[in-house]
Amino acid sequence: MNTDIVYLNGRYLPANEAQVSVFDRGFLFADSVYEVIPYYQGVGFRLQQHLDRLAYSLRAIRIAADDDWRSILDGLVERNGGGNLSVYLQISRGSAGSRTHAYDQSMTPTVFACCSPIKDIYALGADQVKGYTVIVSADLRWHRCDIKSTGLLPNILVLQQAREAGADEALLVRDGLLSEGTSCNLFVVRQGVIYTPKRSSEILGGTTRELILELAAEAGIPFQEVDIRPEELANADEVWVSSSTRGVIPVIEIDGTPVADGQKGPLWQQMFALFTRFQHRLMTGEK
Ligand code: PDD
Repeated sequence: MNTDIVYLNGRYLPANEAQVSVFDRGFLFADSVYEVIPYYQGVGFRLQQHLDRLAYSLRAIRIAADDDWRSILDGLVERNGGGNLSVYLQISRGSAGSRTHAYDQSMTPTVFACCSPIKDIYALGADQVKGYTVIVSADLRWHRCDIKSTGLLPNILVLQQAREAGADEALLVRDGLLSEGTSCNLFVVRQGVIYTPKRSSEILGGTTRELILELAAEAGIPFQEVDIRPEELANADEVWVSSSTRGVIPVIEIDGTPVADGQKGPLWQQMFALFTRFQHRLMTGEK
């Protein structure tokens, strides 16, 4: 599929014609925030939740941008042929025409969006979901991980460390507690209860994390938002990670040791089925 059309500052145009100033503060300082939103069959998945978080991130770093994000993104998806797409939206503080740390509040933000094809994980079915192997590593990020900033260097370096160790992801530890993955939230299952780190400035408030807790509540599966120590992973019955484009993923091995019997667990199977039903209802408008 050709997903060559991007959105930049009010215009849809081919990617190779889109240009941003070299003095853009997103480029120089990662002075920018972003969202990644899956679209299935041309329909945004939890779009409102993503837009709410975007508004939160913009407010937190004091970028005054307030556009009709929904119509910008829907328009981008339509121009790229609809279907199953991951949409990226980035808003930077803009360019002052030179490199200076301090910024002027009157600067015009740079708005950029693009998309790329994704698989519909729910249509593929649970058998097609690959269990993850992960490593555990130090969380070297700043203390405002609740802001979805494009400053992702610590995340990238740790993910690369994981990949070079043959693993899919890394779970991060700060001050003796697990926070999340490099681009996903974390869940630990023990004796039928789902545990996940509570929301704080140390983790991103994931839209998929929120959906997991909503679906668990509806299905009567008990859950708790608590501190989790890395030692507790050894007694876990199941471990999952979650993100928008990957949904809920079972972790089957941590630092070379299988999680329980090293298979995708039964509660994960149930949660995956709940996700599939949720997505089906969303696509068909069924209640
Ligand atoms: N990442 N934690 C971090 C650090 C993340 O970067 C992400 C998402 C999540 C999950 O959030 P959500 O469920 O709303 O996608 C948790 C996106 C997908 C990315 O950076 O590409």
